[in-house]
Amino acid sequence: MKILVTGGLGFIGSHTVVELQNEGFEVVIIDNLSNSSIEVLDGITAITNKKPHFEKLDLKIKDDVTSFFKKHNDIAGVIHFAANKAVGESVNKPLMYYENNINTLVYVLQEMIKLEKQNFIFSSSCTVYGQADELPITENAPVKPAESPYGNTKQIGEEIIIDACKVNEKLNAIALRYFNPIGAHPSTEIGELPIGVPQNLVPFITQTAIGMREQLSVFGGDYPTPDGTCIRDYIHVVDLAKAHVVALQRLIESKNISNFEVFNLGTGTGSSVLEAIQSFDRVSGKKLKYQIVDRREGDVIAAYAETSKANEVLGWKTELTLDDAMASAWKWEQKIRNK
Ligand code: WQD
Repeated sequence: MKILVTGGLGFIGSHTVVELQNEGFEVVIIDNLSNSSIEVLDGITAITNKKPHFEKLDLKIKDDVTSFFKKHNDIAGVIHFAANKAVGESVNKPLMYYENNINTLVYVLQEMIKLEKQNFIFSSSCTVYGQADELPITENAPVKPAESPYGNTKQIGEEIIIDACKVNEKLNAIALRYFNPIGAHPSTEIGELPIGVPQNLVPFITQTAIGMREQLSVFGGDYPTPDGTCIRDYIHVVDLAKAHVVALQRLIESKNISNFEVFNLGTGTGSSVLEAIQSFDRVSGKKLKYQIVDRREGDVIAAYAETSKANEVLGWKTELTLDDAMASAWKWEQKIRNK
């Protein structure tokens, strides 16, 4: 069965391609290489010994999307990762984010509804909840006004899919709201490849430990949390990737009652920034250099998932720990810096 993975050379996309291939799916990747590199294709192939079909294509070009789907009209499902995802960058470049994250979604859906099989998995984010009123966060938590254009594109994206499903009865969709994906494949063949100065915590930790960064700035030590630093739900990217396969199988086997479902993907456990640093020190044997500085604009105090819906309905739960994820991230950092 042929599955299209857009953004399939990206961080979560590449790990999902591996798990799809492990489950016997034939995978076609579209990526415009704006935030990924072609070497990732070799990494995937090194893990699975199956080279996915790859097409360099910019989904913003509607005619190219139409031509692609004409050529691949036997696609049984689409997992749509292709999007820009840097919160801070989206504040400075909102129109780039709306064009890239929204137009591409519309063009892919417009072609999908011409297909025989219309199974669609959307890469969404817990950022849609903003600072949730209750913790842990369930899928029924209210979607709050987005704190960034990036978060808004995820909210709008879900609404577009809902409206499309309402009038296209063959279109079945699941939105997966990720908490904080971290780590790398245990083979160290693929992992996170942040371009420039990392915005996210874990790549900044590993780049500090490897000597690329002077020290980690911990954004805020005066939050109303046990140790004063923000709390997040750090989920191993391999666990996250596996959830995509399970969700796709649910759609293919038509186990979903309604044609649009949402699932939170997290471990269900919150960890503070200082606890994440302690985890890194524990698994690496290093003593990370950090300094507590001012809060970062837009950060929520705490966010971690209530996981029973994904556990019970999807039949999926995380198997890997924060330490597993940190250890894999550190191994990956050392591999790519050849240390
Ligand atoms: C985690 C914690 C920071 C860097 C964002 C998006 C989310 C998803 C993941 C795309 C926070 C602290 C960070 C640093 C720090 N992205 N931190 N020093 O902001 O929770 O989530 O990225 O899908 O949608 O919202 O992740 O890794 O940036 O931050 O202290 O150098 O680490 O303040 O508390 P975040 P993050």
